[in-house]
Amino acid sequence: MPKVVWFNGTVTPFESAVVPAMDHAHLYGDGIFEGIRIYDRKVFKLDEHLERFYHGINYMGFDMPYDYATLHAAILDTARAADIDNGYIRLNVTRGTGLGLDPKKLESRANVMIGISTLALYPPESYETGLHVVTAPIRVISPDALDPRLKCIGRYAGNIMAKQFANRAGAGEALMLNAQGNIAECTGDNIFLIQNGILRTPHSSSGILKGITRDTVLMLAKDAGIQTEETTLTPFDLSACSEAFLTGTAAEVIPMVTIDDRLIGDGKPGPVTKQLISLFREHTKIGTAF
Ligand SMILES: Cc1ncc(COP(=O)(O)O)c(C=O)c1O
Repeated sequence: MPKVVWFNGTVTPFESAVVPAMDHAHLYGDGIFEGIRIYDRKVFKLDEHLERFYHGINYMGFDMPYDYATLHAAILDTARAADIDNGYIRLNVTRGTGLGLDPKKLESRANVMIGISTLALYPPESYETGLHVVTAPIRVISPDALDPRLKCIGRYAGNIMAKQFANRAGAGEALMLNAQGNIAECTGDNIFLIQNGILRTPHSSSGILKGITRDTVLMLAKDAGIQTEETTLTPFDLSACSEAFLTGTAAEVIPMVTIDDRLIGDGKPGPVTKQLISLFREHTKIGTAF
């Protein structure tokens, strides 16, 4: 696979795509990103990712030099240039370059990157045996401080520290609660529980990123006749459920089998989780071909 990246309108080798040291994303985390998967030479949920990306750009008031159609075509062109069957696309935009918070003082426009690589978030065997998860002491950012739908670079500081906490505990993931102590999400994934046969996930007002994989799994479950509920979930629910799993573009759908020192259900990936993993894998065939 040729290592290529689309950077400000040109496809170049990885090494030539350089963001200036005084870039606002470097100085202040002032940037927005998306992670998108390629399955079998098709880009999965491209429009859903681009829509979330442009909503974030509008919300933060970036001066974005490329419109939706240009970026849509550029992603497909770059995937073709990378000649990759299965992989991960990283779409990034920074506000621009210049010292000082004030966007009026920027010396250059946005830097936009489409990088194509491979990404395995968890060891392959975890998809069979399930992930061990610990509750992080760091909470998600409150939705009244920063809208959780905004997938901006700066908001990940706490998630990275929560991931370090999981690493220190020898766990695969960290569960993050919200300011009220309710379940929000993991560091890069949404969470689902199965309770009395109902598939339950925290409501979008819980301070979660409204994941595209989350929406996909909810849709697949409804189509399969599984009752779903977006609601408030507390840590108690993890002791009162029979199964749990995590979802995300990078994570895909992965079983979760313990929380802290307790088993979830019988501590093994359950039947509803396995059914949804298989429905999800089938659904990944529907992407945009390049
Ligand atoms: C904090 C967080 N939650 C959830 C998700 C899952 O979202 P999606 O399914 O859109 O990738 C991500 C993935 O980027 C994330 O960073």
